[in-house]
Amino acid sequence: MAEMTQAAPANGIVITFFSTASAVGKTLVACNMASELAREGYRVCLVDFDLQFGDVCNYLKLEPLRTLADVQRTMQVEGDSCRVQDFLTPYEHGGVHFSVLASPTKLEEAYNIHHDYAVRAVRKLQQSFDYILIDMTSMFSTLNLAMLDLSTIVTFLGIVDFIPTIKNMKIGMDTLKTLNYDKNKIRLVLNRSDSKTRIGLADVQKLLGEPFYHVLPNDFRAASDSIRDGVPLVLAPKQNALGEALKELVARYTNHSSTPAEAEEKQQESSWLSRLFS
Ligand SMILES: Nc1ncnc2c1ncn2[C@@H]1O[C@H](COP(=O)(O)OP(=O)(O)OP(=O)(O)O)[C@@H](O)[C@H]1O
Ligand SMILES: [Mg+2]
Repeated sequence: MAEMTQAAPANGIVITFFSTASAVGKTLVACNMASELAREGYRVCLVDFDLQFGDVCNYLKLEPLRTLADVQRTMQVEGDSCRVQDFLTPYEHGGVHFSVLASPTKLEEAYNIHHDYAVRAVRKLQQSFDYILIDMTSMFSTLNLAMLDLSTIVTFLGIVDFIPTIKNMKIGMDTLKTLNYDKNKIRLVLNRSDSKTRIGLADVQKLLGEPFYHVLPNDFRAASDSIRDGVPLVLAPKQNALGEALKELVARYTNHSSTPAEAEEKQQESSWLSRLFS
C-alpha cells in the first residue's frame, strides 16, 4: 500500500495552532478548520499535541481507542513500518468525515512521549492526508519547536485582553521571527476581536510589527454551545458570524477566497477595526 512505502512522498500540508497564552481558541479554531477542510472534500487528520491536557476529543465528543502513546509504543517495536492510520479515531457529522490522532489519555504516557516519535507520526500522516492540523500548547517546548519547523503554515493565535497577554504575544512573534521562517508561514490571527477591551488594536499591531492576517469575532454562546454539542460551528445548520469567519480563514489558506486586498477591505468594512485604522 502507498502508506507503507518508505519512499512515498510526504505531501500533506501541515497547519499548526500555536499561541503564547492559554485559552485563546487554538483547539476551537483547529477543530473548525479541520471540519471545514473535510467538508470541502480534503482528506484531513486533526492531531492533538496538547499531550497532557488535550481537548480535541472533548470538543468533538470522541472516545479515542488508541492515542499517540500507542503509536510511540508500536514504533519502538516496529519502527517506521508502523501504520499510524491504524491509531486514528474517526469523526463524522452530517456526512463530513475526518480523522483524529488523539493525545495520550494518561499523564504518565504524555510525560513519556519523545518528540522524535511525534515528528515521525506527522511525517507518516503527510503520506496519507491532504491536510494535517496540529493543535499545540502555548509554550516554546522541544515538541512545539519541532512542529513549528515542519509546519507549512503556523496559525499564531492571540487575543487582546490584558497587558501580559500582549507582552507574551510580542515575545512569541519576535521569537518566531528569529526562527527565520518564510514570511508567509506565520499567520497572526486575532480571536475574540470584539470582546470588550480598552487596548487599541492599532497599538497592538504596531507593537507586534505585524498586521493581523485574519480576525475572528467573539461569540461565547456559539463557541460554548458547539463544544457542548460536539459539533464545530462550520458544520452547524444555522449560520453564525464566527462560523463564517472560520470558513473564510480556511478559504484564505486554501486560496479560494477573495484576493488578500479584497479580504482586507471586507475585514475592515465589517468591524470596528476600520475605525482604528483610519
Ligand atoms: N471566538 C470566540 N468567541 C468566544 N469564545 C471563544 C472563541 N474562541 C474560543 N472561545 C472559548 O474560549 C475558550 C478557550 O478556547 P480553546 O480551548 O479553543 O483555547 P486554547 O487556546 O485551545 O486553550 P488551551 O491553551 O487551554 O489549550 C473555550 O471556552 C471556547 O469556547
Ligand atoms: Mg487547547
